[in-house]
Amino acid sequence: MASYNLLLLPGDGIGPEVMAEVKKLIDLFNKKGIAKFSYEEGLVGGACYDAHKVSITDATMAKAEAADAVIFGAVGGPQWDKVPYEVRPEAGLLRLRKDLGLYANLRPAVTYPALADASSLKRELVEGLDIMILRELTGGVYFGEPKTITDLGNGQKRAVDTQVYDTYEIERIGRVAFELARQRGNKVTSMEKRNVMKSGVLWNEVMTDLHAREFKDVQFESQLADSGGMQLVKNPKQFDVVVTDNLFGDMLSDIAAMLTGSLGMLASASLGEVNPKTQKRKALYEPVHGSAPDIAGKGIANPIAMIASFGMALRYSFGMGKEADMVDAAISSVLAHGLRTGDIAAKGEATVSTAEMGQAIAEEIETAAS
Ligand code: IPM
Ligand code: MG
Repeated sequence: MASYNLLLLPGDGIGPEVMAEVKKLIDLFNKKGIAKFSYEEGLVGGACYDAHKVSITDATMAKAEAADAVIFGAVGGPQWDKVPYEVRPEAGLLRLRKDLGLYANLRPAVTYPALADASSLKRELVEGLDIMILRELTGGVYFGEPKTITDLGNGQKRAVDTQVYDTYEIERIGRVAFELARQRGNKVTSMEKRNVMKSGVLWNEVMTDLHAREFKDVQFESQLADSGGMQLVKNPKQFDVVVTDNLFGDMLSDIAAMLTGSLGMLASASLGEVNPKTQKRKALYEPVHGSAPDIAGKGIANPIAMIASFGMALRYSFGMGKEADMVDAAISSVLAHGLRTGDIAAKGEATVSTAEMGQAIAEEIETAAS
């Protein structure tokens, strides 16, 4: 049996609470002999700042580089609002993405039948929804230089962020989009602002060329990102794979998350290039939701996005598609049985705790696996 080495980075806020539910699944897979997972834990974000005055240490980065996959919780919280910008909690996550080269961020938005009424949109608009937001994750305005605030000396300051994309960065994320589409609904929608931004012009040009050159069998269209956002809430089922840059992807994926009922439902995988020698790729799996400081420590957070992110690790890092399907089916089943954490409960509906939700999912998987 293959054995895999995981690095768990629970982070801040609800991160450790939802990560505890992933550990239940790791233990279960080990106990059942389905896989052999070993794991180490590390600090990231505010938790790391408190201990080491940085948001991730070099030692933890080295472990992340060596791990078969990093499983990440969430970072941030109001207690770190005033720490220096370079060491703010989010910087730890951004360093992981950048240094591990995790350029492809897959954020699938799937509406589980039992939750169609939890969406802020009408049931018929979101029922059966299954789209993939593919976000470019290591370029664009997140990392472009210069990135500065300059004192102009006249009582004014000037802030600069730089949106920058090279052809190869657009092309490689485009390739992931078209390849994903071939395994799904065979349609790619690229979103940018070519009417205002040079990076949008190049983005569109590269995507259009790539499609014509290598992926003619896939349906392809471009939408301006603002109108695309509107279409996401107007008629989300028109989409299959939406490919977009780092910043638009950040926003559009939060929108897509709400289509499914709650941010607490959306999982994500961040993948690097496949190493031709080992055939392995660096990968980090994290829920799209944040650290939710308002409910942290209360044991009421929804662990589904975190658990589904671990499911994505099974699928994309360990070739365990069958087991990943089992995780998804278990989530679907506990929801169908009416289990709800507070974020997905209708008014007056009974709610369960983080641990109860995690336990119920683990039990479903255990039954399916035996
Ligand atoms: C996300 C988050 C991050 C981002 C933050 C925490 C830096 O919002 O993963 O969507 O902006 O990318
Ligand atoms: Mg975000």
